[in-house]
Amino acid sequence: MKCIRSRIIGHGHYAPKKVLTNDDMAKMVETSDEWITTRTGIKARCVVEDEFTSDLSAKAAKMAIENAGLTPEDIDVVVLATVTPDNTTPATAIKVSTMLDTKTGTPAFDISAACSGFVYALTMADNMIRLGQVKTALVIGAETLSKITDWTDRNTCVLFGDGAGALVLQAVDGVGDASDEGILSTTIYSDGSHYDTLRTTGGVSTTQNAGFVMMDGKEVFKYAINALAQGAEEAMHKAGITTQDIDWLLPHQANIRIIEGVGKKMELPEEKVIVNIAKHGNTSAASIPLALSEKMTDGTIKKGDMVVLTAMGAGFTWGGVVVRI
Ligand code: ACO
Repeated sequence: MKCIRSRIIGHGHYAPKKVLTNDDMAKMVETSDEWITTRTGIKARCVVEDEFTSDLSAKAAKMAIENAGLTPEDIDVVVLATVTPDNTTPATAIKVSTMLDTKTGTPAFDISAACSGFVYALTMADNMIRLGQVKTALVIGAETLSKITDWTDRNTCVLFGDGAGALVLQAVDGVGDASDEGILSTTIYSDGSHYDTLRTTGGVSTTQNAGFVMMDGKEVFKYAINALAQGAEEAMHKAGITTQDIDWLLPHQANIRIIEGVGKKMELPEEKVIVNIAKHGNTSAASIPLALSEKMTDGTIKKGDMVVLTAMGAGFTWGGVVVRI
């Protein structure tokens, strides 16, 4: 049945220049390259020096808009997923929209769904496009997690990094089946019974400061593989595709053992699972668009490929997206 789809027409990414290797981390806390590599797959992470989340966002967005062959004037909405906004209010999306010089009046808003933020943001933008509210959407995932990291806590500080990724989506006519280009399905979920398992130690209403990330790593780990697989499989079911139809699975980059676990659970060969955790660590809402744009830029992910995105994070939140590039 004829329908509107959201096609990816541009992609961009940006990571801060400063890199902290595992050996650098070992000078800050009691850890080692060997421990971090074998437990997480992380070798390095990028961290900001004098940049904000808005700066990372604007750089990734500029690349995405240029890659789409558009100008900021063409953007009808800016959706930014982050848990590290520049200010508590207004939304960082509005600052980014102004930095890019989009049309005055362009709606812009932030989404807070932690590591699932980009999947939530894509879902909202896709819904707006399919409803005909907007034609062209800029969707960004960006974080400066280094600002809410306790650099004395070895349980968490080795895991996170800063970065940004962005996509430009545009309305295109589809026939309503899996042969279409663009987003074929989205799924999003939450379960607040795990609210305290992974959270910051503070917040505006409780402590009047942002706090630091803390978590029960083992609990998160246990939940993550099932949630990531479920997010992917429900989205695939909705899109009417099976594992055989997938060219690439792109899971949120939290831990190589979680990523491998999801691939195995979904019975996918490891060559089909996108991994970039070694050089970025966990960049929360930025992780999926950063990896997607990097792999589209280097030609790994090509036009026509069927890609399944899946994420899980604090809340807990989780969800999946099926997209034909
Ligand atoms: N270096 C050296 N030792 C460490 C470090 C470190 N950086 N961190 C913890 N340890 C120690 C612990 O103190 C513990 O020591 P003990 O036995 O003397 O108490 C030992 O290593 C083992 O710790 P475990 O917690 O058992 O290690 P585990 O194998 O569970 O790995 C990890 C920990 C990597 C955090 C894992 O649980 C994990 O990845 N969980 C998922 C968490 C996650 O990714 N969260 C991110 C946000 S959620 C998301 O994105 C999905």
